[in-house]
Amino acid sequence: MTDIQPADTSGLGAIDRNAARVSVDDKAMINCRADVNQLLPLKYHWAWEKYLAGCNNHWMPTEVSMQADIALWKSPDGLTDDERLAIKRNLGFFATSESLVANNIVLAVYRHLTNPECRQYLLRQAFEEAVHTHTFEYVCESLGLDEGELFNMYREVPSITDKAAWALNYTQNLEDPEFRTGTPAADQAFLRDLVAFYVVFEGMWFYTGFAQILSLGRRNKMVGIAEQYQYILRDESIHLNFGIDAINQIKIENPHLWTEEFQREVRTMLAEACELEVAYGRDTMPNGLLGLNAGLCEQYMRFITNRRCAQLGLDPLFGPTDNPFPWMSEMMDLKKEKNFFETRVIEYQSGGALDWD
Ligand SMILES: [Fe+2]
Ligand SMILES: [Fe+2]
Repeated sequence: MTDIQPADTSGLGAIDRNAARVSVDDKAMINCRADVNQLLPLKYHWAWEKYLAGCNNHWMPTEVSMQADIALWKSPDGLTDDERLAIKRNLGFFATSESLVANNIVLAVYRHLTNPECRQYLLRQAFEEAVHTHTFEYVCESLGLDEGELFNMYREVPSITDKAAWALNYTQNLEDPEFRTGTPAADQAFLRDLVAFYVVFEGMWFYTGFAQILSLGRRNKMVGIAEQYQYILRDESIHLNFGIDAINQIKIENPHLWTEEFQREVRTMLAEACELEVAYGRDTMPNGLLGLNAGLCEQYMRFITNRRCAQLGLDPLFGPTDNPFPWMSEMMDLKKEKNFFETRVIEYQSGGALDWD
């Protein structure tokens, strides 16, 4: 692999006028020699399918009416203090998390993922993360929230800072201009970043946040935000599954990276992430809300953590754990639950993307 130049894997190298045509077998997830500008012939149909599904799920936050949310938020007895705290912390976590995820895609992952169909998906995902950040701008403006408070929570609320800082460690490794994949140590650093962002950030930490808001939505509170979260959840379930497929494909192509020791390390990462989320749950819901409290969120996070372990082919971290929020899977099925909150202005086609939890 030492003869592969960084410019070959990034796509920024000089054009080789005499190069042979790319055949499917030349394509690889990382450290690829084939031209990263040639989408066809497709090799990873799962990546292309997710790109198409993402496009079919297109939505914009401004299409969702915020009238009911504004009325409830402004009414002095519309929400309890505990509900207001949970909503604000939740919005504060997501408001900056979306751009942390986007930064990681654009500044770290894209450069090192040497396959054009995967890059096509990353470009779609990056736009979706922009739409998600837009959602929090729109919510902030609609409800008249303190934007400084909302967008600084990732620095000012320790349980949110701890999560952001944990994930950022993994991006920083890759953002170093000197960082190159192509050695087992560097390729494992790349895998760690994919685990930290796709599996932990988008696949674990977002899920308790979704459960919090969607639980309120089920009680007819903050139905506009709840609807926006349904669309974000649908997008994120594809992001998560893209990450799982990418990691598993890299494992297949590079079995030497997936050592016993590395598997233990990934399990430790998921255990740490679960702990951080439990702390965040306590911080966000010190007294619990109707139908939702830190204990149930802890159980949910354990259930999710075990599921992520299974998706990566790892042993579960916890004993058998029931899902305390079985209604979450219905929330993902927008076709079935269409008009659940009855605030949707426009219906987009909602492809076959709904069973990807
Ligand atoms: Fe997102
Ligand atoms: Fe995402």
